[in-house]
Amino acid sequence: MKVLLIGGCGFIGSHVVDSLLAAGMSVRVFDRVQERFRPPVPGVEYVLGDLTDIAQTYEAMSGVDALVHLASATVPATANHDPVGDISGNLITMVRLLKAMRETGLRRMVYLSSGGTVYGPPETPLVNEDHPLRPINSYGIVKVAIENYLHMEHVLHGLQHVVLRASNPYGPRHGHTGVQGIIGTHMWRMARSEPVEIWGDGSVVRDYLHVRDLAELCVSALRSDVSGCYNAGSGTGVSVTEIVDRIRQVVKRSGYEAPPVIHKPGRGFDVPRVVLDIGRARRDLGWTPRIGLEEGLTETWEWILSRKD
Ligand SMILES: NC(=O)c1ccc[n+]([C@@H]2O[C@H](COP(=O)([O-])OP(=O)(O)OC[C@H]3O[C@@H](n4cnc5c(N)ncnc54)[C@H](O)[C@@H]3O)[C@@H](O)[C@H]2O)c1
Repeated sequence: MKVLLIGGCGFIGSHVVDSLLAAGMSVRVFDRVQERFRPPVPGVEYVLGDLTDIAQTYEAMSGVDALVHLASATVPATANHDPVGDISGNLITMVRLLKAMRETGLRRMVYLSSGGTVYGPPETPLVNEDHPLRPINSYGIVKVAIENYLHMEHVLHGLQHVVLRASNPYGPRHGHTGVQGIIGTHMWRMARSEPVEIWGDGSVVRDYLHVRDLAELCVSALRSDVSGCYNAGSGTGVSVTEIVDRIRQVVKRSGYEAPPVIHKPGRGFDVPRVVLDIGRARRDLGWTPRIGLEEGLTETWEWILSRKD
């Protein structure tokens, strides 16, 4: 199978590249930047381009059997500042892409949605895919709209699509811009001996998934013939206080000083608890997360230390 990875030079995309190659698939990456944290991977065809340029996108789609969409114009922390940009950068781009896929006969897509935002404040301790979708920020609202367009394309035009509602992926090659997740953000700050910030009282509970486990799930999704939405998490909840403690232990064990923690006011759009029920992905896609938090945190910290200079 030849797979086009839109956003394949990003955090998650770079791991999906590795998993696809390991699975014997042929990979074309379409991204507006080069690989950030490593040289181009041998055997991968890189196409520099922008998804908003429909001619470039058409060209990148030629000769591929499936598409994995990992590009996003926004992150949860910024989407509310510019909802119009969020809609045009993500939703309108997707609607155009779906039309281009229809015209070129490309009928298979895996899309990365967001398990942390599409449900809104959960009504149950463990959230399954049938939970109501009531997002409370623009990022989640746009992800839900995109999921609905994918479903419409499936019903009306036979698009085979798997939506992966990812929880909080972490691991090597996590960016250091401070917007992509608490584990990467805190570890990069600790590596630079900068204080780390906790928004709110630390009781917010999240579900952390190693990025390689998520990449493996993308491969399983590409191999399957199902269509629909799947939670992609670990199924286990960890509070912010606990994750920060565990990061500090890993940091101290490696001989580094763990800098102080500063408490800041909570962000209104952070729901108090999201832990994903991953039974559907286990059952339909034959997938199970394999990398435990301790192992994953240690690996991530070692990677950050190797990059910090
Ligand atoms: N990282 C997370 O915590 C997380 C959680 C849930 C869902 N997701 C989703 O997973 C997907 C991938 O996230 P990530 O963390 O790897 O993001 P990332 O920012 O690290 O990677 C995204 C990649 O897409 C590329 N890109 C963005 N806009 C583009 C465009 N118009 N044309 C071409 N390339 C473009 C970027 O250059 C980047 O390399 C996104 O859809 C995101 O919403 C991420």
